[in-house]
Amino acid sequence: MKFAAINGSPHGSAGSTQVVLEAFLEGCREEGAQVVTVQLAELQVGLCRACHSCWTSSPGKCVIEDDLPQVLESLEGADFVVLASPLHFLQVSGNLKVFIDRLTSTGGNPHNRPAEAKGPPPRMAVVMSAGFPRPEQFRATSVWMEDLAALLGRELWMEAYAGGARRLPLPEAQPWLGILRDAGRRAARGSSLPAEARHALKAGF
Ligand SMILES: Cc1cc2nc3c(=O)[nH]c(=O)nc-3n(C[C@H](O)[C@H](O)[C@H](O)COP(=O)(O)O)c2cc1C
Repeated sequence: MKFAAINGSPHGSAGSTQVVLEAFLEGCREEGAQVVTVQLAELQVGLCRACHSCWTSSPGKCVIEDDLPQVLESLEGADFVVLASPLHFLQVSGNLKVFIDRLTSTGGNPHNRPAEAKGPPPRMAVVMSAGFPRPEQFRATSVWMEDLAALLGRELWMEAYAGGARRLPLPEAQPWLGILRDAGRRAARGSSLPAEARHALKAGF
């Protein structure tokens, strides 16, 4: 099974978001999954110009010449996409949002996409970190992620929100990170996530 993780942290692999993301991906690797991680901070992915050329004159292709094709390549054949980001003013980082806007070029108008005819929808997970330990800070993002997953035709398999993550790895975060690692194993086995783990991961440590 292939997992593609897109990390929108400006700190890339040196950030707190990566610490949280790694716990999940470690679990995936333990079960033999192929894992590809893209650090958006290391790439140039520019703002969508809303020119809609990707729906009209150059269907499926964005006119902006930057590193977007590299990111899309990493998503090819992925059974599971993991979106990772720090919380910035109660939302995902600008880096991640800019990338998501550029997905416009990959599927025409997602509102017009026909429902999947056969098979279960591909899966998606969200992993985020925040400086302050208040779980309610993720409320708006969580609602948005549910709607985004539906728009993209994906099952939102897991949300993991780590408030108070500035000083990770903290000893008190270890049990929660353990649940996250176990979720990675389950994801790689194609299993479901028990309700208890789902709630614990959304609530943070
Ligand atoms: C522009 C900006 C906005 C932020 N907004 C919030 C916020 O609303 N709530 C919060 O708890 N932390 C906020 N933070 C702190 C980060 O979410 C936190 O330090 C995060 O763990 C950093 O992850 P990183 O090391 O992967 O970048 C903000 C940081 C920045 C730079």
